[in-house]
Amino acid sequence: EACPKLKGKRVIITAGGTSEPIDPVRVLTNLSTGTQGIELAKTAKALGAEVELIYSTISVPLPAGIKATYAGSARDLLSLLEARWDQTDVLVMAAAVADWRPAEVATQKMKKGQADTLTLELVRNPDILATLGKKPRGNKILVGFAAETAQGEAALSLAREKVAKKRVDLLALNQVGSGKGFGNVENQLFFLDFNGQLLGQSQGSKATVSQALWQQVNDLIAEKES
Ligand code: C5P
Repeated sequence: EACPKLKGKRVIITAGGTSEPIDPVRVLTNLSTGTQGIELAKTAKALGAEVELIYSTISVPLPAGIKATYAGSARDLLSLLEARWDQTDVLVMAAAVADWRPAEVATQKMKKGQADTLTLELVRNPDILATLGKKPRGNKILVGFAAETAQGEAALSLAREKVAKKRVDLLALNQVGSGKGFGNVENQLFFLDFNGQLLGQSQGSKATVSQALWQQVNDLIAEKES
């Protein structure tokens, strides 16, 4: 039987790009479609986990039969995850969280006026994984993604920095940009553990690499529980 340790586990997967308001009609977001997170939710459900998908801006349909909750901005997502923390066994952060948000949100629609340029001041968003990674974890498993345009060793070294900063149990590294990473495309994930050691890789459809990710999570749960 595949991934027996996931059966009955309370699994949260975040998906899509966060949406940071500028004014009542405008937002800052990114090219994440939500596809990888949605595949992870479907495969986790098929493995017998109790799944909640927390989604921001997505451009594909939500999967049928899976509990789904909307969180718009990075800060909304963090509050929701903090509220869920005690009742979560596994959190997979597949969402593309905006690093920055507009410093001020206009209460009225901004007018274009006469000026040829507009400067938006941005402030740093909280790092959700790093924030949650500091909480007492028990047997919980925290999984992060690293979407990098760098290749090979350079990408691995960026991923290792991310593991250390965010204190995740598992990091999935994937290449993005120029047709790679976004939407219904083949994906390749490299898996790194808490120490930044390369555990393995998986290549194929987003469903295929999702199965491989759950196998890694299954093995980590087995290790923690033993
Ligand atoms: O720091 P970077 O965005 O490259 O790290 C990617 C991983 O960290 C993803 O799992 C993403 O969901 C998560 N993240 C986060 N909070 C942020 C930015 C990214 O949890 N503010």
